Amino acid sequence: MAGGGQVGAWRFSVAPMMDGTDRHCRFFHRLLTRRARLYTEMIVADAILRGDAGRLLRFHPAEHPVALQLGGSDPDALGEAARIGEAFGYDEINLNVGCPSDRVLSGTFGACLMKTPGLVADCVAAMRAAVRIPVTVKCRIGVDDQDPDQSLFAFVDAVAAAGCEVFVVHARKAWLQGLSPRENREIPPLDYDLVARLKGARPALTIVVNGGIATIDAAIAHLHRFDGVMIGRAAYGEPAILAEVDRRIFGDPAPDPAIGAVVREMSAYVRRSARQGTPPHHVVRHMLGLYHGKPGARLWRRMLSEQGAATPPDILDRALEAMTRPAPAPA
Ligand SMILES: Cc1cc2nc3c(=O)[nH]c(=O)nc-3n(C[C@H](O)[C@H](O)[C@H](O)COP(=O)(O)O)c2cc1C
Repeated sequence: MAGGGQVGAWRFSVAPMMDGTDRHCRFFHRLLTRRARLYTEMIVADAILRGDAGRLLRFHPAEHPVALQLGGSDPDALGEAARIGEAFGYDEINLNVGCPSDRVLSGTFGACLMKTPGLVADCVAAMRAAVRIPVTVKCRIGVDDQDPDQSLFAFVDAVAAAGCEVFVVHARKAWLQGLSPRENREIPPLDYDLVARLKGARPALTIVVNGGIATIDAAIAHLHRFDGVMIGRAAYGEPAILAEVDRRIFGDPAPDPAIGAVVREMSAYVRRSARQGTPPHHVVRHMLGLYHGKPGARLWRRMLSEQGAATPPDILDRALEAMTRPAPAPA
């Protein structure tokens, strides 16, 4: 299998999510799973070249393995941004060929690049020439009126010829006209079988399936056909599922991390971050779903969110205490 000495490195990952998987979120997810691969939000190559790369790219050493996702379509800019990302210590550079937001459309990057496999191949070649870490691509099965049976294979073959060995495939089309980014994550139908045919026909490539996978049971089922599974919304909205990943996906013998212990570690992190100028709600907003479906979930969510910018640094201790306090006896 492809991926150099890193077979299995893509077995389970948390998807890149703008406004979601920032460094605070990734630190939190890492406490729940030591093994999952984590992805940054998409960062536009030009922003790294022209903006404050230190602010955009810094991350905590605990986050490894962590991949930097880039947006762009200019090979030189992507090559340079990839080089900077490697220098910051990222384990992988991933190119976004899947995101259909307006911002992405106007900049000719994201999902519309499914229509120009040759340009993506040039981008991948430039990034590979600039770094030694793996360069990977996250794509759709097609866009607009493309026939996915044709577009997915043509795209993957062109980009693989430029040396990309790992593809994360969001198993639905993006419709670039008429659907919002959110609708584009829900309305075009999922076609896992097509992605499985890609894996069957191109066995040397590492193929990670993404889209609509909501539980660890579902992830395990997909692993019979794919090299890896990437989960986005379910991991963000219900992060406690990540606590099962090391044991159930990777077969680690250690018991799952206790949620209360994770909260206490995050509390120390929130306080440390606050001393360095990060408002606590920038961190705890990623933790709202931690008790999803469990007793006290509403209380937890309310306590973490109701004070907004005024959220105090000890909010997690307070919320944990309130969750474990016995309910008052009826009068
Ligand atoms: C809020 C949000 C932001 C996203 N931002 C990105 C992004 O920056 N880059 C990207 O490739 N995909 C992005 N996506 C798409 C996800 O990575 C993923 O492909 C998609 O949500 C399907 O997986 P899921 O059904 O497990 O959520 C985003 C999705 C959501 C919900």
